[in-house]
Amino acid sequence: MRKKIVAGNWKMNLTLGQAEQLINDILQAGLRLKDGQEVVMATPFPYLLKAKSLLKNTPGFYLGAQNSASEKSGAYTGEVSAEMLQSVGVDYVILGHSERREYFQESNATLAKKIDLALANGLKPIFCCGEPLEVRKAETQNEYVAKQLEESLYHLTEEQLKNVVIAYEPIWAIGTGLTASAAQAQDMHAFIRAQIAAKYGREAALRTSILYGGSAKPSNAEELFACPDVDGGLIGGASLVAADFLAIIQKLG
Ligand code: PGA
Repeated sequence: MRKKIVAGNWKMNLTLGQAEQLINDILQAGLRLKDGQEVVMATPFPYLLKAKSLLKNTPGFYLGAQNSASEKSGAYTGEVSAEMLQSVGVDYVILGHSERREYFQESNATLAKKIDLALANGLKPIFCCGEPLEVRKAETQNEYVAKQLEESLYHLTEEQLKNVVIAYEPIWAIGTGLTASAAQAQDMHAFIRAQIAAKYGREAALRTSILYGGSAKPSNAEELFACPDVDGGLIGGASLVAADFLAIIQKLG
């Protein structure tokens, strides 16, 4: 059975003190995750080591980074490599978030390189895809997302794909308060799974966790997570508030 995951994407928020407080508040709630459920906290780079030390004894809780470099090592000032992330105990890395694509010009081809390096260093990529509003309005979102999958993931082997999580994040729903309806999320998730099945076979598709992201919150998480092809969420704003993040995790069922 595929994993159900709630991943918090903190983006560029919080100081170290606030980060520690948030993790402690979440852990102290003493949530017991069910088999096959995972929680990921994707913190800013400077907090990874501290976060690892806080999270490491809690079963089901994993550490994530929000990006990693498209090159292995060397003269790339300001970049952080997949190998470095692995060496500090990172488990997951968010790749291809729409903010990275938009503000840092990350292309599908660049992301394919990042995915390869992440996997080569034992990290599990959370690969983000999703369409902008004008694409949704033109009703060409399926073609748009299919191309993102094809250009960044389809060079992988079936074995490699086992370590990839996909996050569907319609850009028009990120941080806007607009959420895709459960039906819109389910339609796209089913489409993504069908694409994976066409390329890698049904078993591989059934094994792949596909998360929804975009203004997910306690009030809508239950309906979203109840969709048969929605395997959890990638949570931005609500992951910064312990009570909200905990409530969303509990909606995994
Ligand atoms: P949001 O962000 O939950 O604040 O909309 C989600 C994301 O960008 O991953």
